Amino acid sequence: MILNWQLDSAADTWLTSLMQHAADTALRCEGVTLPCSVDIRLCSDEAIREINRAYRGIDKATDVLSFPLNTYPAGRTAGNAPKHLQMNYDDETGACALGDLIISTEHILSQAKEYGHSPQREAAYLLVHGLCHLFGYDHIEDDDKRRMREMEEKILSEIGIGRDDTQIPDETLLQMAREMLKRSYCPYSHYAVGAAILADDGRVFTGCNIENASYGLTNCAERTAVFKAVSEGATSFTAIAIAAYDAAPWPCGACRQVLNEFAPGIRVLVTWGDHVEEAPLSTLLPHGFGPNELPQTDH
Ligand code: THU
Repeated sequence: MILNWQLDSAADTWLTSLMQHAADTALRCEGVTLPCSVDIRLCSDEAIREINRAYRGIDKATDVLSFPLNTYPAGRTAGNAPKHLQMNYDDETGACALGDLIISTEHILSQAKEYGHSPQREAAYLLVHGLCHLFGYDHIEDDDKRRMREMEEKILSEIGIGRDDTQIPDETLLQMAREMLKRSYCPYSHYAVGAAILADDGRVFTGCNIENASYGLTNCAERTAVFKAVSEGATSFTAIAIAAYDAAPWPCGACRQVLNEFAPGIRVLVTWGDHVEEAPLSTLLPHGFGPNELPQTDH
């Protein structure tokens, strides 16, 4: 799924990786095989209130607004209405436009607090709810409401953040790392690597390897993910998933050292093809040199 982001605040980038994963999962659960795109904006309560007022005559902030482009025939949703999807096929993007989603980040944070779960889970829920509307589901009649809830729950439990889940499961982290393979910039080695690192506050940051014509400037996927995380304020991590297509992507020495700086006890999961293997960083980097090894000084 192509998500065309409009982020009103640069501070919201941490939400996008999990939401991308949720959108890809939603498309798969709904059974849509055509490539699709959604314009999605993350904004303040004030901005969503203005949109709600202008387009729906309701002068109130809300959590999510969906503006579907398609009207599906009665009883059908996107998964079994490919002809309707194709009507909004856009040559330029190579995808069928589904419509617009507007989500208030202030609502993500306040509702997560209210329900006692993570902002990630709330963000994924609101995205999935909005996407279901773009797929043609609604919750006006009881029967429709039940069908919509079932689809939402199916998608959320597939992502591993259904009703009873408390933290991001390994399989979600692995899948997010695999998805990053598509972003890899590796015209020299042709060895794509994707990574997804889980911060102890529940946030996930993803990365890919980024090569350079001046070969030595290449940045590995793991370090891209770590640097994105640290620059967004996450400095403590519990697990990292690393993906490659067909060879075990155990992290290089430099990446082990960088991981050791922030998370000497981190679990390292690697996946390639159908394989998944795991080792603690302490095994991959015995006697690691970290901040605690430096002598304490006053300056
Ligand atoms: N690479 C990573 O992204 N992570 C590692 O830990 C090992 C190597 C990348 C760097 C380069 O783009 C390609 O793999 C081949 O070395």
